[in-house]
Amino acid sequence: MSTVADSATPVLSPPTARILVVDDERSMRELLAIVLKREGYEVLVAENGRAAIALLEKEPVELLISDVRMPDVSGVQVLAAAQRANPEIIGIMVTAFASTETAVEALRLGAYDYLSKPFNVDELKLKVRKALERRHLQQENALLKRALQDTHQFSNIIGRSPGMLAVFQLIQTIAPTTSTVLVSGESGTGKELVARAIHFNSLRKDRPFVALNCGALPETLLDSELFGHVRGAFTGADSNKKGLIEVAEKGTIFLDEIGEMSPLVQVKLLRVLQERKFRRLGGTEETEADIRIIAATNRDLAKLVADGKFREDLFYRINVIPVRLPPLRERPEDISLLAEHFLVKYAAQIGRKITGISPDAVRKLQAYAWPGNIRELENAIERAVALETGQLVEASSLPEHVQVVEGPGGNGAESPLPESGFDLERHVADIEREYIAEALRQSGGVKSRAADLLGMSFRSFRYYMKKYNLR
Ligand SMILES: Nc1ncnc2c1ncn2[C@@H]1O[C@H](COP(=O)(O)OP(=O)(O)OP(=O)(O)O)[C@@H](O)[C@H]1O
Ligand SMILES: [Mg+2]
Repeated sequence: MSTVADSATPVLSPPTARILVVDDERSMRELLAIVLKREGYEVLVAENGRAAIALLEKEPVELLISDVRMPDVSGVQVLAAAQRANPEIIGIMVTAFASTETAVEALRLGAYDYLSKPFNVDELKLKVRKALERRHLQQENALLKRALQDTHQFSNIIGRSPGMLAVFQLIQTIAPTTSTVLVSGESGTGKELVARAIHFNSLRKDRPFVALNCGALPETLLDSELFGHVRGAFTGADSNKKGLIEVAEKGTIFLDEIGEMSPLVQVKLLRVLQERKFRRLGGTEETEADIRIIAATNRDLAKLVADGKFREDLFYRINVIPVRLPPLRERPEDISLLAEHFLVKYAAQIGRKITGISPDAVRKLQAYAWPGNIRELENAIERAVALETGQLVEASSLPEHVQVVEGPGGNGAESPLPESGFDLERHVADIEREYIAEALRQSGGVKSRAADLLGMSFRSFRYYMKKYNLR
C-alpha cells in the first residue's frame, strides 16, 4: 500500500492556537494560563479589559477567554473589541455561578460559549478544544470551497492536482476541434466523464453523445450496434435498424474499452476513420458518417498492438490526441477535494446534515492507495454518509480496508513494529527535532515561549536546540 505525504492539500494541521486570557483575579488568570499551556496552546494574559484591548490590537489571537464581570471595562466590551480586531475570533466568557442572564447576554453578543465559575479543568479543556476544532473545520471547508470554485469550468470534474489541471487545459484546447481522442487511464479514473466534457464543450454539444462499451457485446452484436443492419441481414433481423454511428450523426460517439474490439469490427471502424463512410450489415449502400470519435481504454493499447491484438493502423488513427488520466494515488491533492464533493452530493441525496470529514478520516483517505480510483472513493463516501450518525464523517465509518491503512510513517495495521526492525532512538530523535523546530517557528524564535509551548524549561530547550543544531 503506498502512503502519501500531502503537503499541498488545504487540510490544515490540527490547531495549536493562541489564546488570550482576561481576568482581574490573579489566581484565576494563572490557573487558566497553566492549564491551557499544558494543553499545548500559546497563552497571553491580561489583568483587565483595558490591557486586553490594547493587546488585541497588536497581537493576533484566535480565542478569547474573558471574565464577564470586571471593573472598568467589562468582558462583553472586550469581546466586542476582539471581534472588531478579528471577526473570526472565538469568545468564551466566564461568568459567576448562577448568573445565567449574563451568560445568555454574552452568547447573544457573539460569544461562542461560556463557563460558569467554579468550573472544572476538564470542562475548560473540552470547551476550548471543541471550539478550536470547529473553527478549524470551518476554515478547512472555506478553503475547499474556494479550491473548488477556482479549479476550472468543467464543474463536474473535480481536481486541482497538476496532473488534472493539465487535463483540463487539454480538454479546453481540443474540445472545439473534431479530432479523434483516446482517453486512457485505470478503471474509475473518470474516462467517461472526460469524454462527455469534451463533447459538451464542443460545437457538437447540441447533437447526440452516444456511448458504446465495446467490451460488453459479442462481435456480431457489436457490429450491428455500431453500423446497423438491413432487414434479413441475419436471422432475427426482421427490420432495418440504424447503427449508433447513424444515431450519433453530427455528434460524438464514445467507444469505451476499445481494446476489446474484435479484429473484424476494427477493420470496419478503420474504414469509418479513413473514408468517413460505412455500410449497414447486409446493406449495399455506403453512407457518409459525420461523427467525432472518442475512444477510451484502461489497457495499454500500444502493448496490444505489439502483441498483435490491436491493429497498428487503427491505433494511429485513434491515438491522434491522447489524454491520459492519472490514477488517484498520483494526485493526492485531489483526494480531500473529491471526498468533500461526494460528501455534499450524497448528504443532499439522503437528506443528512453532515458538515465535514474529521481530520482523522481525511488522513486515512489520503493514506489509502485507491486501486479503484475515484469510483472507489465515491462508493466509500456514499457508504460513510449512509452509516454516519454524527455531523462529521469519522474514520470509523470508512470501509475497513481504508481504516487500517496508516498515515505517512505508519507501518500497517497489525503492529507498529515492522518485522525488519526499526531504529527507535533515531525515530524519537526525529520527532524531538521536529517539535523543537516547530516550537521555534511558532514562537517566532523566542526561545522562552518555544520552551513554554513544549512544557519544558528554558535550559532543556536550549540543550535540545544545541543537540539538533537548530537556530
Ligand atoms: N475528477 C472527477 N470528479 C468528480 N467525479 C469523478 C471524477 N472522476 C471520476 N468521477 C466519478 O467517478 C466515477 C467513475 O468515473 P468514470 O465512469 O468516468 O470512470 P472510468 O475511467 O470510465 O471507469 P471505468 O474504466 O471503470 O469505466 C463516476 O461516477 C464519475 O462521475
Ligand atoms: Mg468507463
